Amino acid sequence: MEKIIVNGPCRLEGEVTISGAKNAAVAILPATLLVAGKCHLENVPNISDIRAFVKILESLGSKIEYVSEHEMIIDNTNIHTTVAPYDLTSKFRASYYLLGALLSRFGNAQISLPGGCNIGARPIDQHIKAFETLGAEVEVKRGNVYATSKKLEASSIFFDVVTVGGTINAILAATLVPGTTTIENCAKEPHIVDVANFLNSVGASIKGAGTDVIKVTGVKSLKQTSSYAIIPDQIEAGTFMVAAAATKGDVLIKNCIPKHMEPISAKLEESGAEVIEYEDSIRVRMNKSPKAINIKTLPYPGFPTDMQPQFGTYLTLATGSSMIVESIWESRFQYTAELVKMGATISYHDRTAMFTGVKELYGSPVKAMDLRAGAAMIIAGLTAHGATEIYDIHHIERGYENIVDKFKALGANIEYEITND
Ligand code: EPZ
Repeated sequence: MEKIIVNGPCRLEGEVTISGAKNAAVAILPATLLVAGKCHLENVPNISDIRAFVKILESLGSKIEYVSEHEMIIDNTNIHTTVAPYDLTSKFRASYYLLGALLSRFGNAQISLPGGCNIGARPIDQHIKAFETLGAEVEVKRGNVYATSKKLEASSIFFDVVTVGGTINAILAATLVPGTTTIENCAKEPHIVDVANFLNSVGASIKGAGTDVIKVTGVKSLKQTSSYAIIPDQIEAGTFMVAAAATKGDVLIKNCIPKHMEPISAKLEESGAEVIEYEDSIRVRMNKSPKAINIKTLPYPGFPTDMQPQFGTYLTLATGSSMIVESIWESRFQYTAELVKMGATISYHDRTAMFTGVKELYGSPVKAMDLRAGAAMIIAGLTAHGATEIYDIHHIERGYENIVDKFKALGANIEYEITND
């Protein structure tokens, strides 16, 4: 069994370099399926979700060559099946992007119902609606999703809810469809813009990504002429920003896009931290306990749900009571029970949690309930007195590259421990 042990408290100080964005990479890898040739990607994070996606693509016939740890060439000339393996696709959510990409290039696709973090009901009805609007037939049976179409046609798609995955899937499905498809009520997250930029760089015609109306004019085929570098990870950067403030530290977070960090920077500043923006880095300094603040998670440019557990942890040590309203995922407060084991005072009902600041947390065995909850447990361990043992760390490894080494380089007393039980 593998666990992470953090001996706290500590003060983080120094520099950390942020990796490529998980949620952009897990969309851009399947997006390469639209190119009947080679794609060269840079700044690909070395995380388990990407390693799983590489296996899925290889099972479809992609030839993948690693040029270096973060750089790969994917050759999708000889895709021999559009049926993705159940055991791999059922494990994570982003496998749904195979539907849009395979449907667009080959007219059919089969994946398992996507898995992923247990943070709430994760329907894909809006993805299916987008495919059907373009003329596909979609059937969900015995845990699989089957999408087929003789001929997709450009159309107008209107999302009933703002969905990141649905927006990207609609773009993927429409990219090779003749005519102009209009997608309305789109999500605006930075990784949606990154996927559109990648596709435009290989010859697609996508306008409006980053706004709530996107227009995709179908092209006959795509071809890469130069390599594409994936954007830095907004949530990894935000996690280190919060960790710096929570430990009353001073950390320069390098290779991030300060514009993407604004909802996070604003809340840190409101809590009393100093946030200094540079061109492609951010410095966070803090020398006191945070002030209590209130947060409501919202689609971008609102406060990201993927930063909610990290902020919740930070606020356990605030002066006063803070309230967090989680409006995206209904089960995203499960981590609070773990923090209570460490001495936090938290109560929640439905989608609202109250955090009453305590003087200190103490180390204890806790579980990484999901990816971001796992990162939150590391932050808790850094601030707590004594040893925090974090179990189920495979969740953390899905989305954070080298997290133990990165925290260690900032002065944390943190280690992996592998036992044979
Ligand atoms: C993406 O998930 C991210 N995952 C999530 O990050 C993130 O929490 C989420 O967007 C919100 O920002 C990836 O990019 C791989 P949604 P996604 O479709 O696309 C409802 C992390 O920690 N909805 O924007 O699955 C849904 O229930 C992960 O990195 C429908 O009702 O999220 C939710 O309430 C966790 N029908 C809301 O929309 C649908 O068909 C937003 O979901 C689709 C979604």
